[in-house]
Amino acid sequence: MKSSEIRRKFLKFFEERGHVIVPSSSLVPDDPSVLLTTAGMQQFKRYYTGEADAMKDFGSKSTVSIQKSFRTSDIDEVGDERHLTFFEMMGNFSFGGYFKEEAITYAFDFITKEMGLLISYVTVFQGSPSTPKNPSTGSGNTEQASSGNNIPKDTESKGIWESLGVKDVREEGMDDVFWGPTGSSGPCGPTTEIYCKNGAGQDIEVWNIVFNEFFCTGSREELLAGRAELKPLPTKGIDTGMGLERLAMCAQKTKTIFETDLFGGFLKKEPISGVTERVRRIVLDHARAIAFLISDGVEPSNKGAGYILRRLVRRAMVYEYLVNQIEFKLPIVFTAVHETYARWYPELSKEEILNIFEGEKERFLISLEQGLKELKKFEKVDVKSAFFLFQSFGIPYEVIKELGGERTIHLKREDFEKEFEEHQEISRAGLEKKFGGHGLILDTGELKAGDVEELRNATRLHTTTHLLQQALRDVLGDSVHQMGSDVTSERTRFDFSFARKLTSDEIGRVEKIVNKKIEENLPVGCVEMSKEEAERSGALHFFKEKYPDKVKVYYVGETLLDAYSKEFCGGPHVGRTEEIGRVKISKEEAVASGVRRMRVVLTKDAEFRS
Ligand code: GLY
Repeated sequence: MKSSEIRRKFLKFFEERGHVIVPSSSLVPDDPSVLLTTAGMQQFKRYYTGEADAMKDFGSKSTVSIQKSFRTSDIDEVGDERHLTFFEMMGNFSFGGYFKEEAITYAFDFITKEMGLLISYVTVFQGSPSTPKNPSTGSGNTEQASSGNNIPKDTESKGIWESLGVKDVREEGMDDVFWGPTGSSGPCGPTTEIYCKNGAGQDIEVWNIVFNEFFCTGSREELLAGRAELKPLPTKGIDTGMGLERLAMCAQKTKTIFETDLFGGFLKKEPISGVTERVRRIVLDHARAIAFLISDGVEPSNKGAGYILRRLVRRAMVYEYLVNQIEFKLPIVFTAVHETYARWYPELSKEEILNIFEGEKERFLISLEQGLKELKKFEKVDVKSAFFLFQSFGIPYEVIKELGGERTIHLKREDFEKEFEEHQEISRAGLEKKFGGHGLILDTGELKAGDVEELRNATRLHTTTHLLQQALRDVLGDSVHQMGSDVTSERTRFDFSFARKLTSDEIGRVEKIVNKKIEENLPVGCVEMSKEEAERSGALHFFKEKYPDKVKVYYVGETLLDAYSKEFCGGPHVGRTEEIGRVKISKEEAVASGVRRMRVVLTKDAEFRS
């Protein structure tokens, strides 16, 4: 059975049973407490919490959808037979309408009659704590259990399955058969799952049927740690999720999801020399995910959803780079993704996907080769060296972990993420230690300040000087080089090579760029590296100056690789550009033949945190 047939059957089956077909929502949800849409129920959260009325919005208490979904939690599993980052989730929902009896019977009928599949076994909730204090006596009768988060065993579902002839009903706990909530709070409840066999005879979880009975006051982690409370949900209901890819694997009797027609046209099925099956699958998964994320407006960045996209793009790109075979070229894979899915998702734009991909590639390839060389040099890749590779060369965690092999055995994702988050704090704390609180008189040659207040303004203007140099290069070209600079608390004076007087339009553009970079509130970071590495990173420096073997590079941007500005420098700088406030170019003049001088002053106060 083709996947198009499965889609059609699923929607029709539930439409015939009073469900309104609702289109997939975007992968970028309205709900600010979650980065990406992880389940079909996300767009319907408000119908369970009582904030919205399904009858009013849909004319029915039941809906059905095929939802674009994305789970970062599964990223390390991608490459096996059944895990994906992006997937399509088929789901039927009831908001205060039908409950356990109908939900289980619908699922049973759909799987066995419509799909013609055998159910290997099902699971039901064993209660929590596992020895139940308040055994359930019927549907919707579990709210008494919410105090102390005791949730009774789901004997009702067990009975329904048995009455349908399913004999193998297994009892499981919170980890497996209790759904939600998504985000920082929300609907949740016990579930029952259906397992069917794939083409390799393995039992695969295909369908998860959630009995939304509770509102959880905190996140799932908080709930599991006993720090969140369960309250009765205003509108109880049903929320189900069935991965289209997994169901297709069972229906098409393939051994993995990657052999279903959902991935059919992406890459040659024959082995590609030098590529393990796992790598091939990762590229297939990531290419699809990248295409869908971009089409929902995500752009690569170092924050939030953009950071997820960037990691996927770079990981896929590393394989493309290492394998270097025509079948493996990502534009070819993107074209196939587009051909397979544009019919269902008209928002997929091939041009947009390729444009964003090429842009990211251009930035990344400059440092990829060098980063891979650096990675080889480490005997052991600990969290510090991994972070160095990420920060300096943009090599994502996943790639370090894989290519580093044995040497990354102790590298853990949580530690890396922690390091990432602490990074801004560290560079800020370093500055405080060095320059804070002593009423010192600073004179670095370039920077002069008589007290802390003066130092703050000089620091703001120092970062401004870096932004200024890059903005001048943006407007006037890369022939612009710093010839000297002098920073006081009043102004920065910047001398640079350029042959003629600037037009007022050019001055206006430079000023605008600098203020724009300030408004973007970019972080300022610093890395210490060998002079050769620093030069290769593209950091600006004086050609004539003698630098020591180890130099510091200050950069304005999330990482050295992405930085808007990077320069050899001793600091100090603001922690984030917003601390500068606002600036104005007050003067532009000649100082010598081929050398211009610009003065820039602060025009608006800002909170100084560095
Ligand atoms: N919301 C149910 C599931 O995603 O499995």
